[in-house]
Amino acid sequence: MYTVRKVTDDLYWVGGNDHRLELFENIFPIPRGVSYNSYLLLDEKTVLFDTVDWSIARELVKNVKDVLGDRDLDYLVVHHMEPDHGGSLEEILMRYPNVKIISSEQGFDFMRQFGFNKVDEHEQIIVKEGDTYSFGKHNFAFVEAPMVHWPEVILSYDTTDKVLFSADAFGTFGALDGKLFNDEVNFDRDWLDDARRYYTNIVGKYGPFVQDVLKKASTLDIKYICPLHGPVWRSDLGYLIDKYDKWSSYVPEEEGVMIAYASMYGNTEYAAEALAGQLCEKGMTNVVVHDVSKTDISELISDTFKYSHIVLASVTYNLGIYPNMKDFINDMVALNVQNRTIAIVENGSWACTVGDKMQDVIDEELKLCDVLNDRVTINSSLNKANENDMHGLVDAIIDSMKKNRELQEKLNS
Ligand code: FEO
Repeated sequence: MYTVRKVTDDLYWVGGNDHRLELFENIFPIPRGVSYNSYLLLDEKTVLFDTVDWSIARELVKNVKDVLGDRDLDYLVVHHMEPDHGGSLEEILMRYPNVKIISSEQGFDFMRQFGFNKVDEHEQIIVKEGDTYSFGKHNFAFVEAPMVHWPEVILSYDTTDKVLFSADAFGTFGALDGKLFNDEVNFDRDWLDDARRYYTNIVGKYGPFVQDVLKKASTLDIKYICPLHGPVWRSDLGYLIDKYDKWSSYVPEEEGVMIAYASMYGNTEYAAEALAGQLCEKGMTNVVVHDVSKTDISELISDTFKYSHIVLASVTYNLGIYPNMKDFINDMVALNVQNRTIAIVENGSWACTVGDKMQDVIDEELKLCDVLNDRVTINSSLNKANENDMHGLVDAIIDSMKKNRELQEKLNS
C-alpha cells in the first residue's frame, strides 16, 4: 500500500509514475515524467477504472491486490483504450477471471485490435451516452467523449460522490511522486506549462469536441476530477476548466508575443532579439523568444496556444521555408491553431521568398489568423534600411493588441 492514495472514503488511486520514458507517444519530451492514473472503488462491488502503461503494470497489480485484500475484482471500466492506459488490461483479466468489463462498443473493438483477445472470455457491458450503472452505494452515469482525443472515449460520473472520471481530459505531463491532489502542488507555478503542452499537442486539434465535453460537464455538480494523468482536482476546479475553455476555443490565454525564429548564422536571431527589445521599450514585456532549431516543437505549439501574437522570423532556405520553421508551421496547421495575430520577418541574401511562402500557408490553412501588413524584409543582416520597418512592426503589434482589447471590452459591455 506504500504508494496508494485515498481519493475519497472508498476510492483509491492505484496508478504509478514513469520517470524512465524519455518521449511520451515516442515524440513528446517528458523531463518531469508522467503518471498513469488508475482508480479502484470499494463498494458492494469492486471496480477498477482503467489500467496503466505496461511499464508500470507490476505496480498496478500490487496496488490493486493490496487494496482489494481478500476481495475479488468485480468490474473493470475502460474509459480509453490508448495503450498508456489499456496496456496492462490483459494482465488484470488474467489475474481476475471473473471481472466484468464495461466500455464503449468501440472500446471493445480496440481491445481486440490491440490483441487483448482475452476480453472475449469475460462478460462485456457496452455503455453509451446517458447509461447508468450501480455498484452498490455508488451510482454512475456514462458520458460519451468522442475525439477527446480518440473516438472510443467515455467518461463516467459518480453521482453519489460527484466524481468525474475524465479520461485524458484535464490530464497533464509530470509524475506525481507521492502528491496526488491539485492542492498539494503549486499547479500554476510548477504544472501549468506541462498541462498546456500536454493538452495542446495531444488534444489541441479537437477543440470543438472538448467544448462539447465542457458543455456536458457544466450540467454536473463536480467535486472531484480524476484524470488519467496528473493531479486529481478537488478544489479550484474553475481554474482548470477556464484554461480548457480557452485552449479548446483557441482563445489566447495571455496578451503577449511569441517570437519564433529560424536562423542559420545568427542574423535572423539578432532581428528577433531586436524586435523583442523594442517591444519591451514600448511596454510590451510579455514576450518570449524561441529558436525553432533548439526548442522542442511541443513547446512552440504550447506557447502558440498561450500568446495572442506570434512572430515568425525565418531565413530563406532552398528558396522556401527553413525546415524547422516549416515543421512548426505544419504542426500549427495540424493542430488547428486559429484566432491569432501573426507577423512575419523574412531574411534572404538573394531571392528572399520565405515571407510569401509562410503567408501562403497561413492564409490558406490557418483559420481566423490575421497577418499584419508590416512585414520586415532583411537582406542578410539587419541594417539601417530596416529601421523604419522594425519600428513599424513594433507599432503594428502594439496597435493590434489595443484594438483587440477595445473589441473585447465592447463585446463584454
Ligand atoms: Fe493518456 Fe490518450 O492516452
